[in-house]
Amino acid sequence: MKTLWINHRSFQSGGKPIPVINPANEEIIDEVPDATRDDVFRAVAAAKTAFPTWWKEVAAHQKAELLHEIAHRFKVKTREIAKVMTLEGGKPFNENVDEIGWVVNCFDYYAELQRNARGRVIPSVESSQLAMVLKEPYGVVGCIIPWNYPILLLAWKVAPALAAGNTVVIKPAEQTPLSTLMLSSIFDCLPSGVVNIVTGRGETAGDALVRHPDVAMVAFTGSLETGKTIAKICAEMVKKCHLELGGKDPFVIAEDSDIEVVVRAVAWAAFLNAGQVCTSSERIYVHQSIAQEFVVKLADFTKGLVVGPGMNPDTDIGPMIGAENRRKVEAHVADAIKRGAKAIFGGKRPGHLKKGYFYEPTILTGVERSMRVMRDETFGPVCPIMTYKDFDEAIALANDTIYGLGAVLYTNDSKKIKKFFENVQAGTIWINDPLTDNDAGPFGGYKATGGHRELGEEGLEAFRQTKHVHWDFEQENKPWWYPYGNGNKPSGAIARKSKTKG
Ligand code: NAI
Ligand code: MG
Repeated sequence: MKTLWINHRSFQSGGKPIPVINPANEEIIDEVPDATRDDVFRAVAAAKTAFPTWWKEVAAHQKAELLHEIAHRFKVKTREIAKVMTLEGGKPFNENVDEIGWVVNCFDYYAELQRNARGRVIPSVESSQLAMVLKEPYGVVGCIIPWNYPILLLAWKVAPALAAGNTVVIKPAEQTPLSTLMLSSIFDCLPSGVVNIVTGRGETAGDALVRHPDVAMVAFTGSLETGKTIAKICAEMVKKCHLELGGKDPFVIAEDSDIEVVVRAVAWAAFLNAGQVCTSSERIYVHQSIAQEFVVKLADFTKGLVVGPGMNPDTDIGPMIGAENRRKVEAHVADAIKRGAKAIFGGKRPGHLKKGYFYEPTILTGVERSMRVMRDETFGPVCPIMTYKDFDEAIALANDTIYGLGAVLYTNDSKKIKKFFENVQAGTIWINDPLTDNDAGPFGGYKATGGHRELGEEGLEAFRQTKHVHWDFEQENKPWWYPYGNGNKPSGAIARKSKTKG
């Protein structure tokens, strides 16, 4: 059984073992501990002890050097980590190699960004004063990570958290702890206790981390349901909570689109990582004049996609993460078909793969807005298609969701583009290039997606709190103090003099 990583040491836990399963063949690869409350307390204590040193004694240029060193170590170990990510998470190996590339970029980006500024000087009220806005870390940050992009979503939290001067305790998802534990040999360039890793179940280890009074901030990516549970606890304790809770992203195709291009764009946006991406295109709206040609060509293209184990270099679509997740996808498809939709491709498990949580890429037509597949996050390789008549209708349909993470539009019509990005309620708008991230571009969503942002300057700001320092260089009686009987009055701004002496 693998061990926890606390204060730079492998830590044996008293918690029960959790099996880690290869979703491509359903075999157990290893076991990790379900960290107990005491284990989590030890990890938080380590992070709390390390905090003053990391925040106050490691200068910005030294932080930059260390964060760049982390990026470099990720680069060197890319293939080694990507292989374990594929074994435990199922995602095709080349996609995991790509994921680590983005992780490298993220650490490099925040290594530099934190050197620029940590606040600003503002005009003071009187001339004998200095007024500053300081940006300070929270302290210990609990990072709770999902399994679909286990290292990238970790980087989006840990890199800015460290850059801001916080220390962290990471809890990976039950399904993908092995690649995360490998990172001990990357993070050990930092002072001990700055990064700690506890594995375990959400309801035990995750819950203990959220509730710990010394955890000043919780950063979470995952389901809406778990996000609400965490947000309630944080609200009760009045602690900072940072959420990214998935989506139901629309993909709108205008009538001027290049059909050959848009067919491949939709297939990738809907089936990437077996549809287990928070920004998966989960609702396709195509203009009725090109719908028939589009659907035929999409089905034809999808036929050629290879479903199989992620270590196979030809694989386009790997297995889903688990049996329960596949059951949810099957329930969504069954609900759609029962209510009149048609699976023009897929709609079942692939016959040639007897083991593993595989599901065929599935194209549904004849769907309606009330079906589960158009309302709840499906998180599987399912592409439901609806048609629309005019562009205003397309925008209304795009907004027909509780979520607001991303939205895609294909067109070269600048009037439509402007209307789309001004009226669609989503944190990212992609025009003619779906799902591309940018380290400098904030990522997160409107509405039930959570409202918070990772990446970009906003992503660093999220891990900093604000302090206003009001500093008067002279100790002197102020004319607006007591007693008012002397003619003093608390008349605020008007009474304040501009000091020219000294
Ligand atoms: P989840 O949200 O339950 O799990 C994500 C993380 O939260 C894991 O590390 C888990 O251990 C932890 N967690 C769970 N319950 C917790 C609790 N009470 N306190 C603290 N931490 C807790 O997601 P799950 O169950 O793996 O997937 C269910 C559905 O959620 C998926 O089918 C998908 O729709 C959605 N999801 C969305 C993701 C996204 O990227 N937005 C990522 C993962 C899941
Ligand atoms: Mg769950």
